[in-house]
Amino acid sequence: MMSPSSIVSASALLASLLLSPVSAQLHTDCNPMHEDCPPDPALGTAHTFIFNSTPPAGVFNTTAGEVKYDKDTGAAFSINKQGDSPTLTSNFYFFFGRTEVVMKAAPGQGIISSIVWKSDVLDEVDWEFLGSKPEEASSNYFGKDRRDNTNAGYHPVEGGVQADYHNYTSVWTKDQLEWYIDGKLIRTLHPNEANKTENHPQTPMMLSIGIWAGGDPTLPQGTIDWAGGPTQYDKGPYTMYVKSARVEDFSSGTHYVYGDKTGHWDSIKIEEPEKNSTALENINKPPPEPEKSVSEKWDELPQSTKSGVYAAAGGVFALGVIALLVYYFRQRSKGQKEAAAYAAQQEAERLELEQFRKEGRNPDALEYEATEYNPSAMGKGSSVTAYTAVPNDHDRSNSLSSLNAAPGQTASWDPTSASGGPTGAVPLLAHDRVGSLGSQDSPARSNTYDGHAPMSPSQYNAEQPPRSMTSPPNNGPGGYGGYH
Ligand SMILES: *[C@@H]1O[C@H](CO)[C@@H](O)[C@H](O)[C@H]1NC(C)=O
Ligand SMILES: *[C@@H]1O[C@H](CO)[C@@H](O)[C@H](O)[C@H]1NC(C)=O
Ligand SMILES: *[C@@H]1O[C@H](CO)[C@@H](O)[C@H](O)[C@H]1NC(C)=O
Ligand SMILES: *[C@@H]1O[C@H](CO)[C@@H](O)[C@H](O)[C@H]1NC(C)=O
Repeated sequence: MMSPSSIVSASALLASLLLSPVSAQLHTDCNPMHEDCPPDPALGTAHTFIFNSTPPAGVFNTTAGEVKYDKDTGAAFSINKQGDSPTLTSNFYFFFGRTEVVMKAAPGQGIISSIVWKSDVLDEVDWEFLGSKPEEASSNYFGKDRRDNTNAGYHPVEGGVQADYHNYTSVWTKDQLEWYIDGKLIRTLHPNEANKTENHPQTPMMLSIGIWAGGDPTLPQGTIDWAGGPTQYDKGPYTMYVKSARVEDFSSGTHYVYGDKTGHWDSIKIEEPEKNSTALENINKPPPEPEKSVSEKWDELPQSTKSGVYAAAGGVFALGVIALLVYYFRQRSKGQKEAAAYAAQQEAERLELEQFRKEGRNPDALEYEATEYNPSAMGKGSSVTAYTAVPNDHDRSNSLSSLNAAPGQTASWDPTSASGGPTGAVPLLAHDRVGSLGSQDSPARSNTYDGHAPMSPSQYNAEQPPRSMTSPPNNGPGGYGGYH
Protein backbone atom coordinates (compact mmCIF):
# COMPACT_ATOMS: atom_id res chain seq x y z
CA MET A 1 0.00 0.00 0.00
CA MET A 2 1.31 3.40 -0.83
CA SER A 3 0.66 6.30 1.42
CA PRO A 4 -1.47 9.07 -0.01
CA SER A 5 1.42 11.49 0.43
CA SER A 6 3.80 9.59 -1.76
CA ILE A 7 1.15 9.12 -4.43
CA VAL A 8 0.39 12.81 -4.42
CA SER A 9 3.99 13.87 -4.65
CA ALA A 10 4.67 11.33 -7.36
CA SER A 11 1.72 12.63 -9.34
CA ALA A 12 2.86 16.19 -8.87
CA LEU A 13 6.25 15.34 -10.19
CA LEU A 14 4.69 13.46 -13.06
CA ALA A 15 2.65 16.48 -14.03
CA SER A 16 5.84 18.47 -14.29
CA LEU A 17 7.34 15.86 -16.55
CA LEU A 18 4.44 15.48 -18.91
CA LEU A 19 6.54 16.88 -21.71
CA SER A 20 8.20 13.53 -22.23
CA PRO A 21 5.60 10.98 -23.21
CA VAL A 22 5.69 7.70 -21.45
CA SER A 23 7.48 5.29 -23.69
CA ALA A 24 6.90 1.60 -23.51
CA GLN A 25 10.19 -0.03 -24.25
CA LEU A 26 9.81 -3.44 -22.77
CA HIS A 27 9.95 -6.08 -25.38
CA THR A 28 8.02 -9.27 -25.98
CA ASP A 29 8.71 -11.80 -28.72
CA CYS A 30 5.08 -12.68 -29.15
CA ASN A 31 2.13 -11.00 -27.44
CA PRO A 32 -0.71 -13.49 -26.87
CA MET A 33 -3.23 -10.64 -26.68
CA HIS A 34 -2.56 -9.98 -30.36
CA GLU A 35 -1.50 -13.29 -31.88
CA ASP A 36 -1.14 -16.99 -31.28
CA CYS A 37 2.09 -17.68 -29.43
CA PRO A 38 4.07 -20.77 -28.54
CA PRO A 39 3.47 -22.20 -25.04
CA ASP A 40 5.60 -20.79 -22.21
CA PRO A 41 7.95 -23.37 -20.68
CA ALA A 42 7.20 -23.68 -16.97
CA LEU A 43 9.49 -23.91 -13.97
CA GLY A 44 6.88 -26.02 -12.19
CA THR A 45 8.92 -26.39 -9.02
CA ALA A 46 11.02 -24.39 -6.57
CA HIS A 47 14.74 -23.95 -6.77
CA THR A 48 17.43 -21.80 -5.22
CA PHE A 49 20.07 -20.70 -7.70
CA ILE A 50 23.26 -19.89 -5.87
CA PHE A 51 25.44 -17.75 -8.05
CA ASN A 52 28.81 -18.70 -6.63
CA SER A 53 29.30 -20.52 -9.93
CA THR A 54 27.71 -20.60 -13.37
CA PRO A 55 24.09 -21.78 -13.17
CA PRO A 56 23.08 -25.00 -14.95
CA ALA A 57 23.06 -24.78 -18.74
CA GLY A 58 19.75 -24.04 -20.46
CA VAL A 59 18.07 -22.40 -17.48
CA PHE A 60 19.01 -18.73 -17.97
CA ASN A 61 20.05 -16.66 -20.97
CA THR A 62 22.67 -13.99 -20.54
CA THR A 63 22.27 -10.94 -22.74
CA ALA A 64 23.98 -7.61 -23.39
CA GLY A 65 27.25 -8.39 -21.68
CA GLU A 66 28.90 -10.88 -19.43
CA VAL A 67 27.88 -12.05 -15.98
CA LYS A 68 30.78 -13.23 -13.82
CA TYR A 69 30.35 -15.76 -11.05
CA ASP A 70 32.41 -15.72 -7.87
CA LYS A 71 32.21 -17.90 -4.79
CA ASP A 72 32.33 -14.95 -2.41
CA THR A 73 30.49 -12.12 -4.13
CA GLY A 74 28.05 -14.09 -6.29
CA ALA A 75 27.09 -13.03 -9.80
CA ALA A 76 28.60 -9.70 -10.86
CA PHE A 77 26.78 -7.54 -13.42
CA SER A 78 28.98 -4.67 -14.59
CA ILE A 79 28.63 -1.63 -16.77
CA ASN A 80 32.10 -0.88 -18.08
CA LYS A 81 31.12 1.17 -21.10
CA GLN A 82 28.19 2.48 -23.07
CA GLY A 83 26.04 -0.36 -24.40
CA ASP A 84 26.66 -2.72 -21.48
CA SER A 85 23.58 -3.97 -19.67
CA PRO A 86 24.36 -7.55 -18.64
CA THR A 87 21.15 -9.34 -17.80
CA LEU A 88 20.22 -12.85 -16.75
CA THR A 89 16.76 -13.89 -17.92
CA SER A 90 15.10 -17.16 -17.04
CA ASN A 91 14.13 -19.47 -19.88
CA PHE A 92 11.25 -20.58 -17.67
CA TYR A 93 8.04 -18.97 -16.48
CA PHE A 94 6.22 -19.15 -13.16
CA PHE A 95 2.49 -18.69 -12.84
CA PHE A 96 1.95 -17.08 -9.48
CA GLY A 97 4.88 -17.61 -7.23
CA ARG A 98 7.63 -15.88 -5.37
CA THR A 99 11.24 -14.89 -5.80
CA GLU A 100 13.84 -14.09 -3.16
CA VAL A 101 16.88 -12.30 -4.51
CA VAL A 102 19.84 -11.57 -2.25
CA MET A 103 21.69 -8.70 -3.87
CA LYS A 104 23.75 -5.58 -3.52
CA ALA A 105 22.91 -2.69 -5.84
CA ALA A 106 25.41 -0.80 -7.97
CA PRO A 107 26.40 2.81 -7.28
CA GLY A 108 26.55 5.53 -9.91
CA GLN A 109 24.39 8.33 -11.23
CA GLY A 110 22.20 7.06 -14.07
CA ILE A 111 22.79 3.40 -13.17
CA ILE A 112 19.83 1.12 -12.44
CA SER A 113 20.10 -2.27 -10.74
CA SER A 114 16.97 -4.30 -11.24
CA ILE A 115 14.99 -7.42 -10.48
CA VAL A 116 12.15 -7.71 -12.97
CA TRP A 117 9.35 -10.14 -13.63
CA LYS A 118 7.83 -9.81 -17.03
CA SER A 119 5.23 -11.73 -18.98
CA ASP A 120 4.44 -12.14 -22.67
CA VAL A 121 1.63 -9.58 -22.43
CA LEU A 122 3.99 -7.22 -20.56
CA ASP A 123 2.62 -7.54 -17.09
CA GLU A 124 5.55 -6.59 -14.91
CA VAL A 125 6.70 -6.61 -11.28
CA ASP A 126 9.90 -4.77 -10.37
CA TRP A 127 12.48 -3.93 -7.83
CA GLU A 128 14.69 -1.06 -8.99
CA PHE A 129 17.67 0.57 -7.35
CA LEU A 130 18.93 3.93 -8.52
CA GLY A 131 22.67 4.35 -8.23
CA SER A 132 22.07 7.91 -7.08
CA LYS A 133 19.82 6.72 -4.21
CA PRO A 134 22.09 4.56 -2.05
CA GLU A 135 19.56 4.32 0.79
CA GLU A 136 16.47 3.42 -1.20
CA ALA A 137 14.75 0.58 -3.02
CA SER A 138 11.79 1.08 -5.29
CA SER A 139 8.96 -1.31 -6.03
CA ASN A 140 6.81 -1.16 -9.11
CA TYR A 141 4.30 -3.02 -11.24
CA PHE A 142 2.62 -2.62 -14.60
CA GLY A 143 -0.36 -4.30 -16.22
CA LYS A 144 -0.25 -4.98 -19.96
CA ASP A 145 2.53 -2.45 -20.51
CA ARG A 146 0.36 0.45 -19.30
CA ARG A 147 3.17 2.67 -18.06
CA ASP A 148 1.34 4.35 -15.21
CA ASN A 149 4.05 6.20 -13.35
CA THR A 150 2.07 6.52 -10.15
CA ASN A 151 2.57 2.80 -9.54
CA ALA A 152 6.06 3.12 -8.04
CA GLY A 153 6.76 2.85 -4.32
CA TYR A 154 9.91 4.05 -2.55
CA HIS A 155 11.33 2.30 0.47
CA PRO A 156 14.24 3.27 2.71
CA VAL A 157 16.60 0.35 3.35
CA GLU A 158 18.43 0.18 6.62
CA GLY A 159 22.17 -0.04 6.04
CA GLY A 160 21.80 1.07 2.41
CA VAL A 161 21.18 -0.88 -0.78
CA GLN A 162 24.75 -0.50 -2.09
CA ALA A 163 26.68 -1.07 1.12
CA ASP A 164 25.50 -4.60 1.70
CA TYR A 165 23.42 -7.51 0.48
CA HIS A 166 19.71 -7.52 1.24
CA ASN A 167 16.90 -9.94 0.64
CA TYR A 168 14.32 -8.59 -1.81
CA THR A 169 11.36 -10.90 -1.93
CA SER A 170 8.12 -10.67 -3.88
CA VAL A 171 5.14 -12.94 -3.33
CA TRP A 172 2.40 -13.13 -5.92
CA THR A 173 -1.02 -14.71 -6.05
CA LYS A 174 -4.15 -13.82 -7.93
CA ASP A 175 -5.31 -12.05 -4.77
CA GLN A 176 -2.32 -9.89 -3.96
CA LEU A 177 1.24 -8.87 -4.62
CA GLU A 178 3.66 -8.33 -1.75
CA TRP A 179 7.15 -6.87 -1.55
CA TYR A 180 9.43 -7.69 1.38
CA ILE A 181 12.84 -6.33 2.35
CA ASP A 182 14.86 -8.53 4.70
CA GLY A 183 11.73 -10.30 5.83
CA LYS A 184 9.69 -7.14 6.44
CA LEU A 185 6.54 -6.56 4.39
CA ILE A 186 6.87 -3.10 2.88
CA ARG A 187 4.12 -3.05 0.29
CA THR A 188 0.93 -4.89 -0.63
CA LEU A 189 -1.06 -4.45 -3.81
CA HIS A 190 -4.59 -5.76 -4.15
CA PRO A 191 -5.98 -6.30 -7.64
CA ASN A 192 -8.81 -3.81 -7.29
CA GLU A 193 -6.26 -1.06 -6.51
CA ALA A 194 -4.71 -1.78 -9.91
CA ASN A 195 -7.17 -0.26 -12.39
CA LYS A 196 -9.97 -2.45 -11.03
CA THR A 197 -7.87 -5.61 -11.54
CA GLU A 198 -7.02 -4.79 -15.18
CA ASN A 199 -3.47 -3.75 -14.29
CA HIS A 200 -2.86 -6.44 -11.71
CA PRO A 201 0.02 -8.59 -12.95
CA GLN A 202 -1.63 -11.96 -13.56
CA THR A 203 0.12 -13.82 -16.40
CA PRO A 204 3.10 -16.26 -16.34
CA MET A 205 6.33 -14.42 -15.55
CA MET A 206 9.99 -14.75 -16.45
CA LEU A 207 12.61 -13.53 -13.96
CA SER A 208 15.16 -11.07 -15.24
CA ILE A 209 18.04 -9.71 -13.16
CA GLY A 210 20.31 -7.05 -14.57
CA ILE A 211 21.90 -3.64 -14.59
CA TRP A 212 21.32 -0.93 -17.17
CA ALA A 213 22.14 2.67 -17.83
CA GLY A 214 18.93 4.65 -17.32
CA GLY A 215 21.00 7.79 -17.89
CA ASP A 216 22.30 6.78 -21.29
CA PRO A 217 22.26 9.78 -23.66
CA THR A 218 20.23 7.84 -26.25
CA LEU A 219 17.26 7.54 -23.86
CA PRO A 220 14.42 10.07 -23.56
CA GLN A 221 15.13 12.98 -21.23
CA GLY A 222 12.35 11.82 -18.91
CA THR A 223 14.06 8.49 -18.39
CA ILE A 224 17.43 10.11 -17.82
CA ASP A 225 15.89 12.43 -15.21
CA TRP A 226 14.14 9.52 -13.53
CA ALA A 227 17.46 7.66 -13.45
CA GLY A 228 19.04 10.51 -11.51
CA GLY A 229 20.95 12.11 -14.41
CA PRO A 230 23.30 11.13 -17.22
CA THR A 231 25.36 7.98 -16.77
CA GLN A 232 29.01 8.85 -16.21
CA TYR A 233 30.69 6.04 -18.10
CA ASP A 234 34.18 7.38 -17.40
CA LYS A 235 33.67 6.96 -13.65
CA GLY A 236 32.78 3.25 -13.89
CA PRO A 237 32.79 0.34 -13.83
CA TYR A 238 29.54 0.03 -11.89
CA THR A 239 28.73 -3.41 -10.53
CA MET A 240 25.69 -5.06 -9.02
CA TYR A 241 26.17 -8.34 -7.11
CA VAL A 242 23.64 -11.14 -6.69
CA LYS A 243 24.31 -14.00 -4.28
CA SER A 244 21.26 -16.08 -4.90
CA ALA A 245 17.80 -16.21 -6.35
CA ARG A 246 15.19 -18.58 -5.09
CA VAL A 247 12.29 -18.99 -7.49
CA GLU A 248 9.11 -20.74 -6.52
CA ASP A 249 6.45 -21.55 -9.07
CA PHE A 250 3.05 -21.91 -7.40
CA SER A 251 1.86 -23.99 -10.39
CA SER A 252 3.36 -27.18 -11.67
CA GLY A 253 3.45 -28.44 -15.20
CA THR A 254 5.51 -28.29 -18.34
CA HIS A 255 3.93 -25.29 -20.08
CA TYR A 256 1.57 -22.36 -19.61
CA VAL A 257 -0.70 -21.50 -22.52
CA TYR A 258 -2.89 -18.46 -23.11
CA GLY A 259 -6.39 -19.78 -23.74
CA ASP A 260 -7.70 -16.51 -25.22
CA LYS A 261 -6.68 -12.92 -25.87
CA THR A 262 -7.87 -11.37 -22.60
CA GLY A 263 -4.57 -11.63 -20.75
CA HIS A 264 -6.56 -12.64 -17.66
CA TRP A 265 -5.19 -15.22 -15.25
CA ASP A 266 -8.21 -17.50 -15.56
CA SER A 267 -7.56 -17.91 -19.28
CA ILE A 268 -4.15 -19.52 -18.67
CA LYS A 269 -4.00 -23.27 -19.13
CA ILE A 270 -1.47 -25.42 -17.29
CA GLU A 271 -0.16 -28.26 -19.42
CA GLU A 272 0.93 -31.68 -18.14
CA PRO A 273 0.75 -30.90 -14.43
CA GLU A 274 2.12 -34.36 -13.59
CA LYS A 275 5.31 -34.02 -15.61
CA ASN A 276 8.68 -32.51 -14.90
CA SER A 277 9.49 -29.29 -16.70
CA THR A 278 12.44 -28.92 -19.05
CA ALA A 279 13.82 -26.39 -16.58
CA LEU A 280 13.79 -29.00 -13.83
CA GLU A 281 15.48 -31.50 -16.12
CA ASN A 282 18.19 -28.96 -16.89
CA ILE A 283 18.62 -28.17 -13.21
CA ASN A 284 18.95 -31.87 -12.44
CA LYS A 285 21.31 -32.67 -15.28
CA PRO A 286 24.68 -33.75 -13.91
CA PRO A 287 27.25 -31.09 -14.67
CA PRO A 288 29.67 -31.96 -17.43
CA GLU A 289 33.17 -33.03 -16.36
CA PRO A 290 35.31 -29.96 -16.01
CA GLU A 291 37.66 -29.57 -18.95
CA LYS A 292 41.16 -30.70 -18.00
CA SER A 293 44.15 -28.64 -18.90
CA VAL A 294 46.64 -30.07 -21.37
CA SER A 295 49.30 -30.41 -18.70
CA GLU A 296 46.91 -32.27 -16.40
CA LYS A 297 46.10 -34.65 -19.21
CA TRP A 298 49.78 -35.11 -19.97
CA ASP A 299 50.58 -35.85 -16.34
CA GLU A 300 47.95 -38.55 -16.30
CA LEU A 301 49.39 -40.41 -19.26
CA PRO A 302 51.27 -43.63 -18.60
CA GLN A 303 54.99 -43.35 -19.13
CA SER A 304 54.91 -45.68 -22.14
CA THR A 305 52.43 -43.41 -23.89
CA LYS A 306 54.58 -40.38 -23.23
CA SER A 307 57.56 -42.17 -24.71
CA GLY A 308 55.44 -43.01 -27.72
CA VAL A 309 54.39 -39.39 -28.08
CA TYR A 310 58.00 -38.27 -27.93
CA ALA A 311 58.94 -40.87 -30.47
CA ALA A 312 56.06 -40.00 -32.76
CA ALA A 313 57.10 -36.38 -32.60
CA GLY A 314 60.56 -37.35 -33.64
CA GLY A 315 61.85 -36.60 -30.18
CA VAL A 316 65.25 -37.85 -29.28
CA PHE A 317 64.76 -37.70 -25.52
CA ALA A 318 66.82 -40.16 -23.62
CA LEU A 319 67.67 -42.04 -26.75
CA GLY A 320 71.34 -41.86 -25.93
CA VAL A 321 70.89 -43.66 -22.68
CA ILE A 322 71.19 -47.37 -23.14
CA ALA A 323 68.94 -48.31 -20.27
CA LEU A 324 66.18 -46.14 -21.54
CA LEU A 325 66.72 -47.41 -25.04
CA VAL A 326 66.07 -50.92 -23.89
CA TYR A 327 62.99 -49.77 -22.02
CA TYR A 328 61.86 -47.82 -25.03
CA PHE A 329 62.13 -50.76 -27.39
CA ARG A 330 60.22 -52.91 -25.02
CA GLN A 331 57.47 -50.40 -24.63
CA ARG A 332 57.44 -49.02 -28.13
CA SER A 333 54.75 -51.06 -29.70
CA LYS A 334 52.35 -50.55 -26.82
CA GLY A 335 53.30 -46.89 -26.48
CA GLN A 336 52.70 -46.03 -30.10
CA LYS A 337 49.26 -47.52 -29.99
CA GLU A 338 48.39 -45.46 -26.95
CA ALA A 339 49.90 -42.39 -28.51
CA ALA A 340 47.69 -42.83 -31.55
CA ALA A 341 44.63 -43.26 -29.34
CA TYR A 342 45.58 -40.15 -27.42
CA ALA A 343 45.93 -38.14 -30.61
CA ALA A 344 42.56 -39.42 -31.84
CA GLN A 345 40.89 -38.42 -28.58
CA GLN A 346 42.43 -34.96 -28.73
CA GLU A 347 41.06 -34.56 -32.23
CA ALA A 348 37.60 -35.71 -31.14
CA GLU A 349 37.62 -33.14 -28.34
CA ARG A 350 38.74 -30.45 -30.70
CA LEU A 351 35.86 -31.28 -33.07
CA GLU A 352 33.39 -31.23 -30.19
CA LEU A 353 34.55 -27.81 -29.08
CA GLU A 354 34.28 -26.58 -32.64
CA GLN A 355 30.74 -27.92 -32.78
CA PHE A 356 29.85 -26.00 -29.60
CA ARG A 357 31.21 -22.84 -31.14
CA LYS A 358 29.26 -23.40 -34.36
CA GLU A 359 26.12 -23.83 -32.32
CA GLY A 360 26.92 -20.61 -30.55
CA ARG A 361 27.46 -22.36 -27.25
CA ASN A 362 30.23 -21.24 -25.03
CA PRO A 363 32.04 -24.34 -23.90
CA ASP A 364 33.33 -22.50 -20.86
CA ALA A 365 29.78 -21.84 -19.79
CA LEU A 366 29.33 -25.55 -19.28
CA GLU A 367 31.68 -25.57 -16.34
CA TYR A 368 30.46 -25.22 -12.85
CA GLU A 369 31.11 -26.72 -9.49
CA ALA A 370 29.17 -29.87 -9.00
CA THR A 371 28.77 -29.35 -5.30
CA GLU A 372 26.41 -26.42 -5.56
CA TYR A 373 23.80 -28.22 -7.59
CA ASN A 374 22.85 -31.38 -5.87
CA PRO A 375 20.62 -33.06 -8.41
CA SER A 376 19.70 -36.00 -6.25
CA ALA A 377 18.42 -33.77 -3.50
CA MET A 378 16.30 -31.56 -5.68
CA GLY A 379 13.21 -33.53 -6.28
CA LYS A 380 10.23 -32.73 -8.37
CA GLY A 381 7.67 -31.16 -6.14
CA SER A 382 10.21 -29.72 -3.80
CA SER A 383 7.90 -26.75 -3.66
CA VAL A 384 5.53 -28.89 -1.71
CA THR A 385 7.42 -31.61 0.03
CA ALA A 386 10.20 -29.27 0.97
CA TYR A 387 8.10 -27.73 3.69
CA THR A 388 7.86 -30.85 5.69
CA ALA A 389 11.14 -32.48 4.79
CA VAL A 390 14.05 -31.78 7.05
CA PRO A 391 16.98 -30.96 4.81
CA ASN A 392 20.01 -33.11 5.13
CA ASP A 393 23.07 -31.64 6.71
CA HIS A 394 24.98 -31.32 3.53
CA ASP A 395 22.35 -29.19 1.86
CA ARG A 396 21.75 -27.15 4.91
CA SER A 397 25.32 -26.19 5.49
CA ASN A 398 25.74 -25.54 1.83
CA SER A 399 23.00 -22.99 1.61
CA LEU A 400 23.76 -21.46 4.95
CA SER A 401 27.36 -20.85 4.16
CA SER A 402 26.46 -19.43 0.80
CA LEU A 403 23.75 -17.18 2.04
CA ASN A 404 24.76 -16.11 5.46
CA ALA A 405 26.13 -12.86 4.18
CA ALA A 406 22.67 -11.38 4.00
CA PRO A 407 22.71 -9.07 6.95
CA GLY A 408 20.02 -9.49 9.48
CA GLN A 409 19.08 -12.78 7.94
CA THR A 410 21.18 -15.14 9.93
CA ALA A 411 19.42 -14.24 13.12
CA SER A 412 15.95 -14.94 11.82
CA TRP A 413 16.95 -17.82 9.59
CA ASP A 414 16.08 -21.06 11.23
CA PRO A 415 17.31 -23.93 9.11
CA THR A 416 15.95 -26.43 11.59
CA SER A 417 12.42 -25.25 11.12
CA ALA A 418 10.19 -27.55 9.17
CA SER A 419 10.50 -25.50 6.08
CA GLY A 420 14.05 -25.70 4.82
CA GLY A 421 13.81 -26.97 1.27
CA PRO A 422 16.48 -29.00 -0.40
CA THR A 423 18.44 -25.83 -0.66
CA GLY A 424 17.48 -24.60 2.72
CA ALA A 425 15.54 -21.44 1.94
CA VAL A 426 12.90 -20.81 4.51
CA PRO A 427 9.61 -20.00 2.90
CA LEU A 428 7.92 -17.01 4.27
CA LEU A 429 4.55 -18.64 4.07
CA ALA A 430 5.68 -21.77 5.77
CA HIS A 431 3.09 -21.90 8.51
CA ASP A 432 0.36 -20.89 6.25
CA ARG A 433 1.28 -23.27 3.53
CA VAL A 434 1.94 -26.24 5.68
CA GLY A 435 -1.62 -25.80 6.80
CA SER A 436 -2.90 -25.89 3.25
CA LEU A 437 -0.57 -28.38 1.70
CA GLY A 438 -3.46 -30.40 0.40
CA SER A 439 -4.58 -27.73 -1.95
CA GLN A 440 -0.99 -26.83 -2.77
CA ASP A 441 -0.43 -30.25 -4.04
CA SER A 442 -3.20 -30.30 -6.57
CA PRO A 443 -2.33 -29.29 -10.10
CA ALA A 444 -4.81 -26.45 -10.04
CA ARG A 445 -3.52 -25.05 -6.79
CA SER A 446 -2.52 -21.79 -8.32
CA ASN A 447 -6.14 -21.06 -8.95
CA THR A 448 -7.18 -21.74 -5.43
CA TYR A 449 -4.10 -20.77 -3.56
CA ASP A 450 -4.79 -18.38 -0.79
CA GLY A 451 -1.47 -16.71 -0.16
CA HIS A 452 -1.98 -14.78 3.01
CA ALA A 453 1.22 -14.13 4.83
CA PRO A 454 1.18 -15.12 8.45
CA MET A 455 1.24 -11.58 9.62
CA SER A 456 -1.09 -9.77 11.88
CA PRO A 457 -2.69 -6.67 10.39
CA SER A 458 -0.72 -4.55 12.79
CA GLN A 459 2.49 -5.78 11.27
CA TYR A 460 1.50 -4.45 7.88
CA ASN A 461 3.42 -1.35 7.25
CA ALA A 462 0.68 0.49 5.49
CA GLU A 463 2.17 3.93 5.61
CA GLN A 464 5.19 4.81 3.55
CA PRO A 465 7.53 7.05 5.43
CA PRO A 466 6.83 10.49 4.05
CA ARG A 467 9.38 11.55 1.50
CA SER A 468 11.47 14.47 2.45
CA MET A 469 10.51 17.69 0.79
CA THR A 470 14.03 18.29 -0.33
CA SER A 471 14.18 15.12 -2.34
CA PRO A 472 10.97 14.59 -4.24
CA PRO A 473 10.49 11.21 -5.85
CA ASN A 474 12.13 10.97 -9.20
CA ASN A 475 9.23 9.07 -10.52
CA GLY A 476 9.75 9.89 -14.14
CA PRO A 477 8.18 8.63 -17.29
CA GLY A 478 9.67 5.73 -19.05
CA GLY A 479 10.25 4.15 -15.70
CA TYR A 480 11.74 1.07 -17.00
CA GLY A 481 12.66 2.61 -20.33
CA GLY A 482 15.65 1.28 -22.12
CA TYR A 483 15.38 -2.14 -20.66
CA HIS A 484 14.73 -5.01 -23.01
C1 LIG B 1 17.33 -17.94 -24.82
O1 LIG B 1 18.21 -18.24 -25.86
C2 LIG B 1 17.71 -19.24 -26.74
C3 LIG B 1 18.82 -19.57 -27.72
O2 LIG B 1 19.36 -18.40 -28.26
C4 LIG B 1 16.45 -18.73 -27.42
O3 LIG B 1 15.94 -19.71 -28.28
C5 LIG B 1 15.42 -18.39 -26.36
O4 LIG B 1 14.28 -17.83 -26.96
C6 LIG B 1 16.00 -17.42 -25.36
N1 LIG B 1 15.07 -17.25 -24.28
C7 LIG B 1 14.75 -16.06 -23.79
C8 LIG B 1 13.79 -16.06 -22.65
O5 LIG B 1 15.21 -15.01 -24.23
C1 LIG C 1 14.16 -13.66 2.31
O1 LIG C 1 12.97 -13.14 2.86
C2 LIG C 1 11.88 -14.03 2.74
C3 LIG C 1 10.63 -13.26 3.09
O2 LIG C 1 10.68 -12.66 4.31
C4 LIG C 1 12.15 -15.24 3.61
O3 LIG C 1 11.08 -16.13 3.55
C5 LIG C 1 13.40 -15.92 3.09
O4 LIG C 1 13.77 -16.99 3.92
C6 LIG C 1 14.57 -14.96 2.97
N1 LIG C 1 15.56 -15.61 2.15
C7 LIG C 1 16.87 -15.48 2.33
C8 LIG C 1 17.72 -16.19 1.34
O5 LIG C 1 17.34 -14.85 3.22
C1 LIG D 1 -7.49 0.38 -17.31
O1 LIG D 1 -7.87 -0.77 -18.05
C2 LIG D 1 -8.49 -0.50 -19.29
C3 LIG D 1 -8.83 -1.84 -19.92
O2 LIG D 1 -9.90 -2.40 -19.25
C4 LIG D 1 -7.58 0.29 -20.19
O3 LIG D 1 -8.24 0.58 -21.40
C5 LIG D 1 -7.16 1.55 -19.49
O4 LIG D 1 -6.20 2.23 -20.28
C6 LIG D 1 -6.54 1.22 -18.15
N1 LIG D 1 -6.23 2.44 -17.44
C7 LIG D 1 -5.01 2.66 -16.93
C8 LIG D 1 -4.85 3.96 -16.21
O5 LIG D 1 -4.09 1.90 -17.04
C1 LIG E 1 10.99 -35.86 -12.14
O1 LIG E 1 12.19 -35.44 -11.49
C2 LIG E 1 12.52 -36.18 -10.32
C3 LIG E 1 13.78 -35.59 -9.77
O2 LIG E 1 13.68 -34.23 -9.63
C4 LIG E 1 12.70 -37.65 -10.65
O3 LIG E 1 12.92 -38.35 -9.46
C5 LIG E 1 11.46 -38.17 -11.35
O4 LIG E 1 11.70 -39.47 -11.77
C6 LIG E 1 11.13 -37.30 -12.56
N1 LIG E 1 9.88 -37.76 -13.13
C7 LIG E 1 9.76 -38.04 -14.41
C8 LIG E 1 8.39 -38.45 -14.87
O5 LIG E 1 10.70 -37.96 -15.19
